[in-house]
Amino acid sequence: MVFRKSASASKRFQAFDFLATLIAVVDGDGAVVFANAALEDALGTSRRTLEGSAFGACFNEPAVLRTAIDGARSNDFATLRYEAFLRRASYEPLPVQVTIAQGDKAAELIIEMTPLEQQVRHDREERLIDQALANKELIRNLAHEIKNPLGGIRGAAQLLQMEVESRDLIEYTQVIIHEADRLQTLVDRLLAPHRRPHVVGDVNIHEVCERVRSVILAEFPRDLHIERDFDPSIPEFRGDREQLIQATLNIAHNAAQALAERRAAGDAQITFKTRVARQVIFNKQWYRLALELHVIDNGPGVPDTIKDRIFFPLVSGRDGGTGLGLTLAQTFVQQHHGVIECDSMPGRTDFKILIPLP
Ligand SMILES: Nc1ncnc2c1ncn2[C@@H]1O[C@H](COP(=O)(O)OP(=O)(O)OP(=O)(O)O)[C@@H](O)[C@H]1O
Ligand SMILES: [Mg+2]
Repeated sequence: MVFRKSASASKRFQAFDFLATLIAVVDGDGAVVFANAALEDALGTSRRTLEGSAFGACFNEPAVLRTAIDGARSNDFATLRYEAFLRRASYEPLPVQVTIAQGDKAAELIIEMTPLEQQVRHDREERLIDQALANKELIRNLAHEIKNPLGGIRGAAQLLQMEVESRDLIEYTQVIIHEADRLQTLVDRLLAPHRRPHVVGDVNIHEVCERVRSVILAEFPRDLHIERDFDPSIPEFRGDREQLIQATLNIAHNAAQALAERRAAGDAQITFKTRVARQVIFNKQWYRLALELHVIDNGPGVPDTIKDRIFFPLVSGRDGGTGLGLTLAQTFVQQHHGVIECDSMPGRTDFKILIPLP
């Protein structure tokens, strides 16, 4: 009998298993009717153990849930929210925002718990994505506006150069031509991701790493050790190989540049590490499987002053840097529905590329 009840509950609430938020459905007495997969994970307890037990016991202060449930039953409210701590098997209690809503069966209540740290991260990610979109649009329009008159400026300077005889004056026209060329290169890089078509084929992430490795070693042949830590079980996936090589190269190139002092000291190291991640959330979406590619270096770390902005265009912490490498890398990875995250401290900087796997 009990089994039949829980079987039908798991069927009715099956869709909750696809959510990353923690969900419990309880009856009017506060006993668990259903617990979703995310909640099982978070508590470190199986659904079977939870079902039928008093859900209040999963909180540091069981009475609060009791009060909330009583309130839910006596008042006709739509939703109720408060913050609480969930007890976990072998971890510290997890701070969550609890939302209680009435289910479709009279006495049932749906209890949704969003981990607070996750909520903060989500809010931040969402803000960054919106900001990045607005930035991209601005940059693209600006680049077009700069590009149009540039050709004219350069052409006019060339004509002028043919007319003037004085050497001094020719120097001036050459400055104009040279600077116009420099701007042209910058503008071309700004527009690059929008220009090249996205060419899709089967991508092997380890081939991508190997290509990047050989390019970096060709540029820094001495004093740089590149370590590989690959998970060979990672499947091929559909994507644009050249774009992913460029994205990884931009990241690895930064690492090699940041390692100048370590290279001089003889212990500079970059590690390419690949892993499969399960049940991850990024770009506001939940993915069952994703590829993780870490590019880790033992350099001084990203300067604190620019840490929050390194993916923004024209932000550079380095003499002679244009601040476009990471912007481009992020754009290319986003075209694969992925994201690049950075975790950096002195001695260890980890750039992580996440891309959904089928
Ligand atoms: N691995 C790293 N270690 C330390 N700092 C880094 C690392 N990667 C990036 N940075 C910092 O982030 C900044 C932005 O990097 P980004 O690649 O976008 O631009 P850039 O390297 O300055 O110029 P560009 O790549 O366009 O030539 C760098 O200037 C550097 O200060
Ligand atoms: Mg760079």
